[in-house]
Amino acid sequence: MLVSLNEYARAHGKSGDTLRRMAEKGQLHSAQKIGRNWVVDCDEDYPVQKRNVQKKYSVVSLFSGCGGMDLGFTGGFEFLGKRFGKTVFDIVWANEISSAACKTYRSNLGDHIIEGDINKVIGQLPTAADVVIGGFPCQDISVNGKMLGIKGKRSSLYTAIVDAVERLHPKVFVAENVGGLLMKKNEESLNKILEDFGALGYRIHYQLYNATDYGVPQTRERIFIVGTRADVPAFKPPAPTTSVPITVKEAIKDLESRAQDERFSHIWSLANVSGQQGNRRMIADRPGYTIRAECHGNIQFHYSLPRRISMREAARIQSFPDTFMFPSKLRETERQIGNAVPPVLAWHVAKSIEATLGGANEARRI
Ligand SMILES: C[S@@+](CC[C@H](N)C(=O)[O-])C[C@H]1O[C@@H](n2cnc3c(N)ncnc32)[C@H](O)[C@@H]1O
Repeated sequence: MLVSLNEYARAHGKSGDTLRRMAEKGQLHSAQKIGRNWVVDCDEDYPVQKRNVQKKYSVVSLFSGCGGMDLGFTGGFEFLGKRFGKTVFDIVWANEISSAACKTYRSNLGDHIIEGDINKVIGQLPTAADVVIGGFPCQDISVNGKMLGIKGKRSSLYTAIVDAVERLHPKVFVAENVGGLLMKKNEESLNKILEDFGALGYRIHYQLYNATDYGVPQTRERIFIVGTRADVPAFKPPAPTTSVPITVKEAIKDLESRAQDERFSHIWSLANVSGQQGNRRMIADRPGYTIRAECHGNIQFHYSLPRRISMREAARIQSFPDTFMFPSKLRETERQIGNAVPPVLAWHVAKSIEATLGGANEARRI
């Protein structure tokens, strides 16, 4: 039975104006205009307003460290006055062997991290996940290490990521490592890694990224291996966001006159110069050198002050927001910061994966 739009509105506790707008937009299928008045079939269900709920993709994170890559993947932070918005990713399960790194992770990202050796806890993985990420240990591949490649005990741990991908069959996986993996010496290791992932039926894209190209004030080079499942479009890597690198001075100048402050991790090592690395002084109008995990006596000197850079300065050079807290002492904080994937670089990779998964479009459709 046809009733006036006002009657229909009253029956559903809405205003006549709201219903008129809906009728004009065609959101009421039976509505029709008779003369100057709208009428509608009183049996038509009131349309449920579709909420713009953002689809979340579940992520399992291995070798999570203090959470640099995970922060980048989830977004929702600021760095040097720029906002890196929330992504469509939600970390549901993470793992890390170091108890101190887990503590930092929990302080900043949540309780979903499990402490332990991945080989012992892999059975506790959830039954499904959309994405698997992990920066596997790199000491055996790094030019600063013994270069044993994946035959080394630590870097062979990439097989845990292979195992997780095999168990969870995610839409996408990301394995991150040092740029040295692309060196001739590591060719065999790289080929074996690509072969193992490829055998799971994933389309593989790998590329070297220089963090400076993405707004990180550091010449850190890292390789990201991204695998997409056969039913997922191919991954398109993020294009560099800048050709003008952020300099260290721009990144840390405001900390120059700040006194040591343990709660803010603005503390520095007093270790003497150790070899060539320890002699390195940053250059004010250039991006910083790679922040290393095994640094202590090797961490670079401030560009103008008679001291090594502080942990907060190292965190800035790694693009951690100032709100990211490191509850450990100096040595351990050095390790966690140096091990991390720069959150800003990880954010750009995550946004490209979001686009691959149709994240933004899907969210609009819901
Ligand atoms: C390169 S770091 C990862 C950093 C992290 N992606 C980030 O962005 O902060 C590798 C991490 O793997 C952890 N690790 C090494 N062996 C492990 C094992 N057997 N099980 C779990 N984690 C392990 C190390 O403690 C280290 O934190």
